[in-house]
Amino acid sequence: MNNSTVRGVILAGGTATRLKPLTNVTNKHLLPVGRKPMIYYPIEKLVGAGIKDILIVTGVDHMGDVVSLLGSGKDFSCSFTYKVQDCAGGIAQALALAEDFAAGGSLAVILGDNIFEDSISRYLADFTRQGGGARILLKKVHDPARFGVAEIGGDRILSIEEKPLNPKSDYAVTGIYFYDREVFKIIKTLKPSGRGELEISDVNGEYVRSGKMGFSMMNGWWSDAGTFDSLATVQKLVLENPPK
Ligand code: DAU
Repeated sequence: MNNSTVRGVILAGGTATRLKPLTNVTNKHLLPVGRKPMIYYPIEKLVGAGIKDILIVTGVDHMGDVVSLLGSGKDFSCSFTYKVQDCAGGIAQALALAEDFAAGGSLAVILGDNIFEDSISRYLADFTRQGGGARILLKKVHDPARFGVAEIGGDRILSIEEKPLNPKSDYAVTGIYFYDREVFKIIKTLKPSGRGELEISDVNGEYVRSGKMGFSMMNGWWSDAGTFDSLATVQKLVLENPPK
């Protein structure tokens, strides 16, 4: 496996209710962050790591605007494929739409509201060396209960919990994931969570249970941009310390 055989996926659906009224008539990932629309950041991360085949998943309401903005991909030196997620049924449900696109290969997946400093080249190389399974990136945060949280023992992940009331660590699971083809089999076994979504943490938990989950710690800054607070944080970070 080399980097050119790993395809990229950006998940840009969801309802973004936490950013209303900013998202009443547009998609969260089209909102400005620094001098660019939010979705440019994950695109540039994938392209910067040599990933040129990229699937964008978004909802029915704003697909037209997303395509108008991004086009074929030629302005980014990549090629976009688009898929519609009819209802916001969760991150794992959105990822399931990538099965044909993946064509039996591996995927680098980025949540469209995750903005971060590091290049993903090194993390992609770590995944490639791992030779299958899945790999996630962790970041120490002060408010872990807002995220998927990884419990770590030595060099292994012991468990992953989605938005736990009593987090077992300060390590958030960031929205940057690497998966082999098994991911689609796992998604097909999932049941909706209490909030009615197919959870990516349940997918990751399955890789943990089968001993096929690797992880790296992120070096640079990382944040999501899904709340007013985190969006404000990201606005500052991209200007002070632009992503690499
Ligand atoms: O930011 C990292 C966190 O993202 C992880 O730590 C969590 O484990 C993971 O569940 C997720 O948590 P959020 O609650 O912040 O996810 P949110 O619903 O905000 O969705 C994040 C992105 O995923 C969003 O920008 C678009 C995409 N998405 C989400 C849903 C629910 C879709 O494409 N389709 C969906 O149905």
